[in-house]
Amino acid sequence: MKPGIFITGTDTNVGKTVVAAGLAMVLKSRGFKVGVMKPVATGCQGPDHHLISMDAVFLWEAAENEFPSLSSPSRYRNPLAPHVAAQVERKEVDLKQIHHAYRELQKNYDVIIVEGIGGLMVPLAKDYFVANLIREFQLPIVVVSHSGLGAINHTLLTIDAALIRGFEVKGVIFNRVPVANVSLAELTNPKVIHELSGVPILGSLPEMPDLNIDSCHYGQLKEVFEERICVDKIISMPALPV
Ligand SMILES: Nc1ncnc2c1ncn2[C@@H]1O[C@H](COP(=O)(O)OP(=O)(O)OP(=O)(O)O)[C@@H](O)[C@H]1O
Ligand SMILES: [Mg+2]
Repeated sequence: MKPGIFITGTDTNVGKTVVAAGLAMVLKSRGFKVGVMKPVATGCQGPDHHLISMDAVFLWEAAENEFPSLSSPSRYRNPLAPHVAAQVERKEVDLKQIHHAYRELQKNYDVIIVEGIGGLMVPLAKDYFVANLIREFQLPIVVVSHSGLGAINHTLLTIDAALIRGFEVKGVIFNRVPVANVSLAELTNPKVIHELSGVPILGSLPEMPDLNIDSCHYGQLKEVFEERICVDKIISMPALPV
């Protein structure tokens, strides 16, 4: 087993792709071969025989991966939970293919970063959730959350669901935290969430105006991630030979 991390979130659209790409860029800049994966992607674009996930593109460009079909083994056009998209598009999520892709990535890279789909309880198939995939991949998780009003409830629910299942929660990353005009909730939530959950806060990312997933622009993501996120608490890599 290669080291790895599963980036999940309190919700969809919360910043999992941004966090996974930022982590990939930092680890790559430290000399590691980083494999990235979006096991199931919905809301994909392009012709039916060549659907493309912009999340996966953003990840594999960040990590400079050379096996797109391993990074993005299962794709759907409709922006729905995978199990629902699978029903609408009459194409079941192929869990065997996903596991095969994950094993192949492990053979080719030093470390694997997997981006989740929505949150922990998003269904991929009948009676099979993102949480089941995490268990089978045997990966620790990072929870990405917003930091504003509502974050305490969303984050604690996610941490609770993870801990009940025996997952190792490396910590929480807050995303799109304003640098000016911070609300009282944004100011106080990280400490409260840490105190109530006992889970480490790994840092927060600000709004980055030059970052755009659809056009694959990273702006200052690598530098900002390096500066503001405790990468060593997410994943401790063995020293590279000199
Ligand atoms: N720190 C940030 N600064 C600027 N834009 C951001 C930031 N974080 C996320 N975004 C933008 O917000 C949107 C959602 O972010 P992202 O795609 O990373 O979320 P996600 O949790 O991966 O969503 P999904 O559940 O669809 O995979 C994207 O359009 C992204 O470009
Ligand atoms: Mg994403």
